[in-house]
Amino acid sequence: MTDKRPIGFIDSGVGGLTVVKEALKQLPNENILYIGDTARCPYGPRPAEQVVQFTWEMTNALLEKGIKMLVIACNTATAVALEEIKAALPIPVIGVILPGARAAVKQTKNKCVGVIGTAGTVKSGAYEIALLEKSPELKVTSLACPKFVSVVESKEYHSSVAKKIVAQTLAPLELKKLDTLILGCTHYPLLRPIIQNVIGENVALIDSGAETIGEVSMLLDYFEISNSPKNGRSLCRFYTTGSAKLFQEIAEDWLELDEIIVEHIELGGA
Ligand code: DGL
Repeated sequence: MTDKRPIGFIDSGVGGLTVVKEALKQLPNENILYIGDTARCPYGPRPAEQVVQFTWEMTNALLEKGIKMLVIACNTATAVALEEIKAALPIPVIGVILPGARAAVKQTKNKCVGVIGTAGTVKSGAYEIALLEKSPELKVTSLACPKFVSVVESKEYHSSVAKKIVAQTLAPLELKKLDTLILGCTHYPLLRPIIQNVIGENVALIDSGAETIGEVSMLLDYFEISNSPKNGRSLCRFYTTGSAKLFQEIAEDWLELDEIIVEHIELGGA
């Protein structure tokens, strides 16, 4: 069986591009559709009900375009909306939290695992629940990093301001003896070199989004819905509710691709 329909990716903005980057590498034949709800980013500080509503709006827009699988490439949305959306859709739906938790359990040796994410993700406790369910003896430290997302969305992720913000925000983790830190927000891998520098080379960083693509690949095989190498990838399109120009700049920089197609899309009240 071969299924040419695209895989859909959704995020509050450019964060899900860190998941797409891995998809481009690991799934060379798959078609890709992406929505970033940049106009309403960040989702992190918003009430859970609102994040669920926005996530449904992106999901429905992609369903109308005929996707075969949905990747909720946003931890904040995964934490509050995955179960509901998974139960309601006839296609496979995957979030980024369980793959990240699984990878951290596998990685840690001293059992001290940190999680950094948005206020919404940290408040939901979704990573603690997932981690402790798999390995009850873990010591989990969670920290919200509310300033990171806007640094990324404004394309300042290489700047000295970014370095200062990351150093200040991560200071409370210094004495926690972590050997593993989950980047529990898909925006954070764009800050990875700075985060690694601040937290130290001895701490392994887990990119939950990248881990997710391994599981997407498995599901494509399990449900026998991969696209065939004969067809190959013919579609990779991005939609944003915000500025297509800024989104395109960040996408081309991060994905190291030229001439990415980005279109503006209206959703709900955006
Ligand atoms: N990229 C998102 C995440 O993984 C959300 C960032 C935000 O909008 O606050 O949580």
